[in-house]
Amino acid sequence: MAKSPDLTRDAEAAHLQTALDRFRDPIISEMRAFFTAHDADADLHSFYGPMAYHLGWVDERFAPAQNPPGKLMRPALVLWACELAALAVGADATTRAERLYGALPAAVSVELIHNFSLIHDDIEDCDRLRRGRPTIWAIWGEPQAINIGDGMFALARLALVDCATRGVAAPLVLGMAGELDRTSLRLCEGQHRDMGFEGTTVVTPTMYLDMIARKTAALMRAACSFGATIGAAGVPGIVRDLAEFGECLGVAFQLRDDLLGIWDAHTSLGKTAAGDLRRRKKSLPVIHALAHAPPTKRARLAAIYAAETEPTEADITWMLTVIGATSRAWCREQLAELCARARTALAHACGAHAGVADSESAQALGALVDYIALAASPAE
Ligand code: IPE
Ligand code: IPE
Ligand code: MG
Ligand code: MG
Repeated sequence: MAKSPDLTRDAEAAHLQTALDRFRDPIISEMRAFFTAHDADADLHSFYGPMAYHLGWVDERFAPAQNPPGKLMRPALVLWACELAALAVGADATTRAERLYGALPAAVSVELIHNFSLIHDDIEDCDRLRRGRPTIWAIWGEPQAINIGDGMFALARLALVDCATRGVAAPLVLGMAGELDRTSLRLCEGQHRDMGFEGTTVVTPTMYLDMIARKTAALMRAACSFGATIGAAGVPGIVRDLAEFGECLGVAFQLRDDLLGIWDAHTSLGKTAAGDLRRRKKSLPVIHALAHAPPTKRARLAAIYAAETEPTEADITWMLTVIGATSRAWCREQLAELCARARTALAHACGAHAGVADSESAQALGALVDYIALAASPAE
């Protein structure tokens, strides 16, 4: 008997959560120790405190709290890639543990870059909530939030350099430092394009895919690349394969978000269905429909997106029908293709070495792809 979509989704989510749980505490401890080292001056606690608030460790008054820090997916990517790469180059258990220890500052670094980008993104998008809590700018104002985001960016760069104190060879650290800055630049280029797209209807699916490759996928690529660099101690082939894996995963992750932002069956109970259409977010299904729907429908869709007033319920129903007919299947195909490319890259990284594909890290990376790929399934 075929499994129900709900059961499949719950099983995949549980599988992925178990994999993410493995590194959750070490990542949080490493991040907290790193912050403690910098947040030493009581007079500057009003600068570091909002960062700790954003990361879920304290409340608005800087009293200890345990709020959701996010999925911590990017640092987990660093550590999974590190362990897989070390196994693939034949490192023994002691060496693998040493390399994971060396990779922890890189894991902190990518998570801080991610959070720096979210602090600024919430200002750019005027979003007052993140992870269910008021955003930094909504509490402390935009000027302080910009500066706090900048501080977190600097901390992210400093964290990466700490790899050199953990046995990672200096030339590798230098190479990763350059890659981190190139990645941040790509992320900002993506954000620039994303904001530019809001004001125009002339956006093609190709332009959009290029934008999310920068905005979202570049950092996931870097996370996998850093992990592989440290794990394989510079052996190039595996770094290329895992970087390609991270990039495909990142684009797929965003496409999943885009599909669920319109057609998440699980939002129909209590939450707002078709949320991205109500917010008139220009996600891939909308951009594809604006380019490929029959001309009269394209014109009406563009008019709804350009109107001063919010879409009516009739507009939402109409958009769901038109975008569903023109673009849903195409977006699912794109997602499925990216997941297939990610699986191929993962298989290349595992190579022919016995046991690598069956390792906990390879299985965790595979579980992440399986989870993302569910949004490409017509049963969802
Ligand atoms: C949110 O990323 C921003 C996007 C790239 C869509 P995540 O969904 O990974 O955010 P957290 O860190 O788990 O909250
Ligand atoms: C988040 O992007 C920031 C980056 C990916 C750099 P979005 O604006 O698309 O995502 P959310 O909805 O705020 O998480
Ligand atoms: Mg945003
Ligand atoms: Mg944004």
